[in-house]
Parts: sequence; C-alpha cells; structure tokens
Amino acid sequence: MVTPIRNPDIKFKQLFINNEWVNAISGKTFPVLNPATEGKIADIQEGDKADVDKAVDAAKKAFEPGSAWRITNASDRGCLMNKLADLIERDRLYLASLESLDNGKPFNDSYNIDLVLVIKCIRYYAGWTDKICGKTIPMDGEFFCYTRHEPVGICGQIIPWNFPLLMMAWKLGPALACGNVVVLKPAEQTPLTALYIASLIKEAGFPPGVVNVIPGYGPTAGAAISEHNDIDKVAFTGSTEVGQIVMQAAARTNLKRVTLELGGKSPNVVFADADLDIAVNACHNGLFFNMGQCCCAASRTYVQEEVYDAFTKKLVEKASSRVVGDPFESNTMSGPQVDKEQFDKILNLIEAGVQQGAKLECGGKRQGSEGYFIQPTVFTGVTEDMRIGKEEIFGPVMQVIKFKTMDEVIKRANTTHYGLAAAICTKDIDKVMTYSSQVKAGTVWVNSFNVFGAQCPFGGFKMSGIGRELGEYGLHDYSEVKTVIIKTPTKL
Ligand code: NAI
Ligand code: MG
Repeated sequence: MVTPIRNPDIKFKQLFINNEWVNAISGKTFPVLNPATEGKIADIQEGDKADVDKAVDAAKKAFEPGSAWRITNASDRGCLMNKLADLIERDRLYLASLESLDNGKPFNDSYNIDLVLVIKCIRYYAGWTDKICGKTIPMDGEFFCYTRHEPVGICGQIIPWNFPLLMMAWKLGPALACGNVVVLKPAEQTPLTALYIASLIKEAGFPPGVVNVIPGYGPTAGAAISEHNDIDKVAFTGSTEVGQIVMQAAARTNLKRVTLELGGKSPNVVFADADLDIAVNACHNGLFFNMGQCCCAASRTYVQEEVYDAFTKKLVEKASSRVVGDPFESNTMSGPQVDKEQFDKILNLIEAGVQQGAKLECGGKRQGSEGYFIQPTVFTGVTEDMRIGKEEIFGPVMQVIKFKTMDEVIKRANTTHYGLAAAICTKDIDKVMTYSSQVKAGTVWVNSFNVFGAQCPFGGFKMSGIGRELGEYGLHDYSEVKTVIIKTPTKL
C-alpha cells in the first residue's frame, strides 16, 4: 500500500503562459476548495479574456513556421511526450494526492486508476507522433497527388472537474502527437493538477508557448477560448448545455473545429441468464465509481423481470455496504461530490425521485455534516418519464427499471437524447450481438463497465457529443488533411 500525502504543497498558483508563471492581468484570484471539508486550499490567479489573448499570442508564435516546435521532428516530439510521461510517473504519488485533495476522489482511485491511465495515454500518443501518415493517390495524366496530415494549429481545450488529469491527458495527447499548440483551461473547481502538469511540460523541454494553462471560470476564460478568432479548434468536455454554447460560439466566430464530449444517461441491461455476481459488479461500479460523476455513468439499470427482485436485493446490499468517507483513508470507496452546486443538484433530484413515486431503497441523504458527502442511493420502480429516469444526475444515485423483452429494452434504452455508453449483462452471444448493434451509444460494454484503454475510441452518439477521443480515431480531429498535386514531366 502506498501512503498518500495528505497535505501536498500547492506549488503553482499562477497562469502558465509561454513557459512562464504569471499573474492574471486583472490581478484577481479565485478560491479552490477541498470538497471533503469545504475549507479553502488556495487562492489561484483567475484568468480571463485578456489572459487568453496573451496565451493565444504565445501559442501563435510557437506555431510559426521555423519555430523550435515546428522544426522538432516527429520522432523527437514523441521523445518529449515520453519524457513528460516519465515525469508524471516520477511524481505519481504527489499528483494522485493533489488530485484527491482538490477533487475529493479516493486516493486509491487517483493513484491506481487515474494516474495509470494518464501515463498510458501520454505514452500511447507519444508512439503515434512518427506514424501519422498521408497517402499517395493515383491520378489521371501527368500528376502526382499526395496528402499531408498537418496539425490544425492552436487548440483550445476546456476541461471538466470529474477527471481533471485524465481529461487533460486525453486532450493533450493527440494534440501534441499531431504537432499542435494548446491553450488549456482546467475546471475552476479543480485547477491544481493541471498547473503542476504545466511545470512538468516545461521540465520535459517543450518549447515556450506550446502548452499554456489558464485557470479561470467558464463564462469568462472558457468563453474567451470558444470565441477566439485565432483558435483553430476547440475540444470541450462537460455539460450538454455548455457544449451547445461552445458550438454556437465557434459558429459565430471563425468556424473553429469543434469536438464535444458531453452528458449521458447510459443504460445497463441485465438479462435473467447473466452471471448475477458479475452483473451486480458491473451495475454497481458502473454507477458508483467516482461518486457517480462520470459522463458514461450507468444511471439506468434495466433488470429483466424474472430476476428483478433477487437482483435488486443484491444491488441494494452492495450500495448500502459501500464505504463513503475521507478520500485519504485506504478503505474509502467514495469521497464527497465535487462542490456545493453538484451536491445540491443531486439532493434535489433525489427529492424529485421520491416525489414522482420511485421507491427509495437505500441512501437518499447527506452523509455527515461537513463536506459534500452523499449516501449511496438506490431507487427501484423507476420509469423514463421521471426526472431521475431521464436527467443526468452525476451523483451516487442508481435507477432500477424493470423490463420483459429484448425489443422492449432496446427501445427504452434508446429513449433518450443521449448516446454515450451502454452495457449488457448476459451469457448469450446472440443477445450481445442484437443489443450492441441496435443500441445508440458510442461504447458498449458487455459483462463489464467503465473499462478504458488509450487505444479504444470514446465519444457520443446523439447529444452526447461530436467526434471521438482516444485511439487512432482521436487523431483525426487534431489534423487537417492537405492535398498536394504536382505536375510531373511525364505520364506516371
Ligand atoms: P460545465 O459544462 O459548466 O463545466 C465544464 C467546463 O466548461 C469547465 O471547465 C467550465 O469552466 C467550462 N465552462 C462553463 N461554462 C462555459 C462557457 N460558457 N464557455 C466555455 N466554457 C465553459 O459543467 P458544470 O457546471 O461543472 O456541471 C454541470 C453538469 O454538467 C454536471 O452536473 C454534469 O451533469 C455535467 N458534466 C458532465 C461532464 C462530462 O464528463 N461529460 C463533466 C462535468 C459536468
Ligand atoms: Mg456550469
């Protein structure tokens, strides 16, 4: 067992522009809170439009033809990225501790899941740098045609608070692999680890201006990114509502490329023939992991009627025994929700569930009197017209829904404007094939949930997003294809 650092030093509180630490032009700061205690951790410089402009200027310089970054060859770019991964690995204990302090997630998860995935993601994309190839294309006449995959340019990246480091890695990895430059805004709730990563980017030897990190709020610093006329692409992860604002801003300004990773109401369907112990784990972890703060959370659990009563009993027992508490204790499975806004939203939705006639089987309340802790909660008898059956809760609240047949459950699973993930628990391969081909979701897990690999693309159908992150697919939105046609002296 690794011992966490309970009070990690907060080493960086300023904006990171052009490889330098600077104060916000306004001189303003904002407080960052510890969600387990509601106490202040630090005051951080608050970036706004003027600072985003400054960061974009630095990024623009870094991207000019002939700059240190543009003349770094593809393999050396991979070496820089691997160096960054090595430094993150060196400081894994510190970073995992800082992530838990800032976000409230259990240290065991930060250390064993988030940090591991972050390091693998950066290494995975480091491997791509010198394997991003165009094509040669046969043409009529005396012409030779080929394509170049060029970087898009200045990439704005807006990061959420649920996986601050991991979402940063998912966005930095492909952007840097393709040779882009970045202006990144971490979420206002959780800016600390992003600032530390910025220091490692400098230490790894990335040239100034390649990565700039501007902590600040959404409607100010975030909007300045999505509205900026010199930013070529914006990648956003967060609420569907803000995703629409980001896309509108892109449309109104310079038609910058937009990729969005948004909300979900993912169905997890348990058939009567499933191994029920495996299915209980898939349903439980699919929902309660990270305090339910996952865009792909399995927040609709469909259970076939033959096993409904027995299975529900197991789900309730498991949820009731989940250990909620201090993120730094080794037996803790869930910490607090990230902030008061989320905490209030979740308690309000629980209240709506009770009001609209769902049966509260366990939980339903705040835990303790300090920090944003909520008891693991299970509702049965849920239907899709209830608020808890259709809205993204983003908290530790499970909705159990009874179904009879495959046709029925596919229809009901698809009765949502979301389409991020879906799962099925069964031993029958025919059911797997039918469901996985008909459910409208970007990822389908079978007898499992929340299984991620840097190699496997992730993203949403319908209003869950646009584009894919991770894997080779994740490179597409970070490059432009240029067609070059050359007249040759003879017919080729
Ligand atoms: P949000 O969408 O407001 O925040 C996500 C990021 O967007 C943050 O960095 C924020 O500063 C930025 N942002 C906010 N307004 C912006 C604007 N006008 N222009 C540009 N950037 C902006 O999400 P919030 O308010 O933290 O959470 C609300 C709900 O969103 C949650 O309850 C959950 O349902 C969903 N959510 C989904 C996430 C996902 O992984 N898909 C992550 C976080 C939240
Ligand atoms: Mg918001």
